[in-house]
Amino acid sequence: MFKIGKLKLRSNLILAPMAGVSDLPFRLLTRRFGCELGFIEMINVRSLSYKMKKTKKMLSTSAEDRPLGIQIIGCEEEFISRALNVLGSYEYDILDFNAACPVKKVARRGEGAALLKDPEKLNKLLKLIVKNSTKPVTVKIRTGWDSSSINAKDAALASQDAGVSALFIHGRNREQGYSGEVDYGAIKDVKKALSIPVIGSGDVFSPELAKRMLDETGCDGLLVARGALGNPWIFEQIKAFLKNKKIIKKPGIDEIADIMIEHMNSYIDFYDEAHGVRRFHKFFAWYTKGVPSVRPFREKAFRARTKEEMLEIIRSFRKLTNV
Ligand SMILES: Cc1cc2nc3c(=O)[nH]c(=O)nc-3n(C[C@H](O)[C@H](O)[C@H](O)COP(=O)(O)O)c2cc1C
Repeated sequence: MFKIGKLKLRSNLILAPMAGVSDLPFRLLTRRFGCELGFIEMINVRSLSYKMKKTKKMLSTSAEDRPLGIQIIGCEEEFISRALNVLGSYEYDILDFNAACPVKKVARRGEGAALLKDPEKLNKLLKLIVKNSTKPVTVKIRTGWDSSSINAKDAALASQDAGVSALFIHGRNREQGYSGEVDYGAIKDVKKALSIPVIGSGDVFSPELAKRMLDETGCDGLLVARGALGNPWIFEQIKAFLKNKKIIKKPGIDEIADIMIEHMNSYIDFYDEAHGVRRFHKFFAWYTKGVPSVRPFREKAFRARTKEEMLEIIRSFRKLTNV
């Protein structure tokens, strides 16, 4: 069993917050394959304060979608307090604060990874959140702002001092974005310095890489992000591998096609046909990654506008047998 504050979790496999991806249908799908805790994508405290329609949709959840984490991003105390008030009427289990987002527009406002440059401010904001949150509070950081300012340990200690219940760390600095090597050493240093659980993030693309993250850093849990795109099976694959080194065979074309249809249908139910199909475009590419001769299908999939068009493409994809 794994605990974050008073929240008891059956495993330490967590679906990362991912903008444009970790919505209710996707979370439910990954939970079926062993994801324990799922996160809604980051939500700006201003949007929450103004109760924007799009924000409400992002916060959609259901009884099966638990335990659930909400992640907020922002840097102004007034809006953070207002956002916490709004969240009072929502169902969730963990509140995460984003000090990791590398996007320029976000950092320019002093939010996300920009807070790594000012651990004191991070500490102050987290104290405010911890004081006013009814749920355990966590924080997500990176290793630092850039390669010349790796300060994850300082940011992590400042977070722990503020009373957070766990810390997520993406083992890259802000300058690296999503590429370049994961700095396992920096995560290890953070783990050694803290007494709260530390959850590692970065390149958890396979059971082997999941094990590497745990072995090289000593971290307590894993945040799966891009590894789950088009591969919701990754959670059961990691679980089996960590338990007894068992390698679960990758799903064949039929199984992939079945899940694609289910995923697309749930998108159409959740959004509407036009938005559901459009949102599914990128998933078609992810699900079919590595499958030989799939390119023409992918090009067609990106042009599909209706459920029937997409179904037809998935039907022809199913006929491919040479995986
Ligand atoms: C499409 C996408 C959207 C993301 N959105 C968020 C987000 O909303 N909040 C956050 O903290 N991290 C976000 N991330 C970062 C991931 O949570 C994760 O830390 C990062 O991708 C590193 O893990 P990976 O190398 O296994 O993908 C996002 C990543 C991707 C690929």
